[in-house]
Amino acid sequence: MASKSWWIFLNSLVGFFNFAFAGDPFVYYDWKISYISAAPLGVKQQVIAINGHFPGPILEATTNWNVVVNVKNDLDEPVLITWNGIQHRKNSWQDGVLGTNCPIPAGWNWTYAFQVKDQIGSFSYFPSTNFQRAAGGYGGIIINNRDVIPVPFGNPDGDITLTIGDWFVKSHKDLRKNIENGVINVEPGKTYRFRVHNVGISTSLNFRIQNHNLLLVETEGSYTVQQNYTNMDIHVGQSYYFLVTMDQIGSNDYYIVATPRFVNSTKASGVAILHYSNSQGPTPGPLPDIPNESDPSFSMNQARSIRMNVSAGAARPNPQGSFKYGEITVTDVYLFQNRPPELINGKRRTTLNGISFFAPSTPLKLAQQYNILGIYKLDFPNRPMNRPPIIDTSVINATYKGFTEIILQNNDTTVQNYHLDGYAFFVVGMDYGVWTENSRSVYNKWDGVARSTTQVFPGAWTAILVYLDNAGIWNLRAQNLDSWYLGQEVYLSVVNPEVSEKRTRLKEFIFLGHLPFLW
Ligand SMILES: *[C@@H]1O[C@H](CO)[C@@H](O)[C@H](O)[C@H]1NC(C)=O
Ligand SMILES: *[C@@H]1O[C@H](CO)[C@@H](O)[C@H](O)[C@H]1NC(C)=O
Ligand SMILES: *[C@@H]1O[C@H](CO)[C@@H](O)[C@H](O)[C@H]1NC(C)=O
Ligand SMILES: *[C@@H]1O[C@H](CO)[C@@H](O)[C@H](O)[C@H]1NC(C)=O
Ligand SMILES: *[C@@H]1O[C@H](CO)[C@@H](O)[C@H](O)[C@H]1NC(C)=O
Ligand SMILES: *[C@@H]1O[C@H](CO)[C@@H](O)[C@H](O)[C@H]1NC(C)=O
Ligand SMILES: *[C@@H]1O[C@H](CO)[C@@H](O)[C@H](O)[C@H]1NC(C)=O
Repeated sequence: MASKSWWIFLNSLVGFFNFAFAGDPFVYYDWKISYISAAPLGVKQQVIAINGHFPGPILEATTNWNVVVNVKNDLDEPVLITWNGIQHRKNSWQDGVLGTNCPIPAGWNWTYAFQVKDQIGSFSYFPSTNFQRAAGGYGGIIINNRDVIPVPFGNPDGDITLTIGDWFVKSHKDLRKNIENGVINVEPGKTYRFRVHNVGISTSLNFRIQNHNLLLVETEGSYTVQQNYTNMDIHVGQSYYFLVTMDQIGSNDYYIVATPRFVNSTKASGVAILHYSNSQGPTPGPLPDIPNESDPSFSMNQARSIRMNVSAGAARPNPQGSFKYGEITVTDVYLFQNRPPELINGKRRTTLNGISFFAPSTPLKLAQQYNILGIYKLDFPNRPMNRPPIIDTSVINATYKGFTEIILQNNDTTVQNYHLDGYAFFVVGMDYGVWTENSRSVYNKWDGVARSTTQVFPGAWTAILVYLDNAGIWNLRAQNLDSWYLGQEVYLSVVNPEVSEKRTRLKEFIFLGHLPFLW
């Protein structure tokens, strides 16, 4: 009896979430989220660990696998985990942000179940509410290619995941290294892959390894044209994958360094040691230099130099470049402008197009599913509005299968990073100044990289193109925690008109189970 009802539950889950495709393997994780005491900067403090590990375990799967993660919340407050860069095809229920999910109450568990459909690459996960990411709870995600699809480079000798970020200790901002013991042991002559994720709060970091080239091969799911860099600016929420060959014949260790960029307050670097097995001693001399800080074009030119390898296969056998985004007619254009934080109704808030997002206690997705009126409005403007800023739950009425151009104009004085859940988008242009229609003439219409988080430099714009073929309610947010939590986010409602009205009793059954979690 019990097993039968469990079976029905499981089956309805399958039907409802459009999950579990026959034949695709499953991978199961059991995670316990708790506080532990750790000393990432030599000072003992409370951090958020997963299964006792900080940073959390790597979540690893292969294209099209079904991932099931049972998360037990042993914190003393609710927790919600988001899967940064995972597209959750037609399944925004698993996205783990307030617009789609209720947080898991303290002491409870919840099982996320999603398929990593048509994806490869390096991504990250982290807690999405209450500034928890500043205390940990994050880790790397790896989606491997299926065997039938060749990877455009040789098999590396080892795999190293680094999570880097800024970090608060005792009210001063410092940089944190999350590298176990601070030492990475390598063999001379071998090639290692370094997957580097900026899971910090708000600071862009310049990453480099002394005397070693970083051969960039992938960014958040796109294989790139392989190029060597001596350093890379990695912005909040971004993931990069480099191959690094241990080609030095010197007899000492080397520095691995992450240094804050575009901030005046601190230049304290996070440092780890690259230790060759034949090393005779510690690294001599100062840390390797960061790029010229007073040259604003360096970082932008570096970003523009990252391009997609159009002939490489990725998640599907056909080459990445066969979706010729530059030849598709744009159907919808949105220009989103931020502003520096300002007072709205006496509160310090941030905005996009003059609207500071207010997250209602009922997830938008639930309100949409049940036609609960009055939770949100589908009236988000597609241009900045000439009116005083407001706080509102205003959602974008996006077009299902619309080929959409989004221009992000950063009027703030710091780098802002924008992430869109549910999709990879093509980064087609960025420049200083105010975007105009003429700016389209400099777009890269051929080999712009498809990724899920892009930086927008202060006083500059970034343009992205995205094909909205994934129905759901999807979060577009500033990844910088301060900007995000002060209101700089919005949701896109992408409704497939043909299936939106379908509902079954089994679905109701699932949701009745979910309703008590409303908070
Ligand atoms: C909670 O965990 C138990 C034991 O692992 C599992 O059987 C149950 O399905 C989980 N509940 C949810 C809602 O994920
Ligand atoms: C692009 O991918 C192809 C196919 O895998 C590979 O042969 C080629 O070396 C790659 N080119 C660059 C510049 O990375
Ligand atoms: C990158 O640098 C390595 C040496 O560190 C070199 O062997 C390799 O040929 C370079 N690759 C490219 C594409 O420039
Ligand atoms: C850093 O200082 C310079 C010069 O005072 C100023 O123009 C710039 O806006 C500051 N940058 C940040 C991120 O505060
Ligand atoms: C740094 O860049 C600035 C502005 O482009 C230039 O004036 C200065 O000479 C550069 N400094 C170095 C050390 O290259
Ligand atoms: C949203 O857009 C669709 C067309 O894509 C339109 O039919 C619908 O009326 C719009 N909804 C609102 C509330 O504006
Ligand atoms: C922000 O907008 C104002 C008004 O258009 C403009 O004067 C200012 O230069 C802009 N600042 C940035 C950093 O874009």
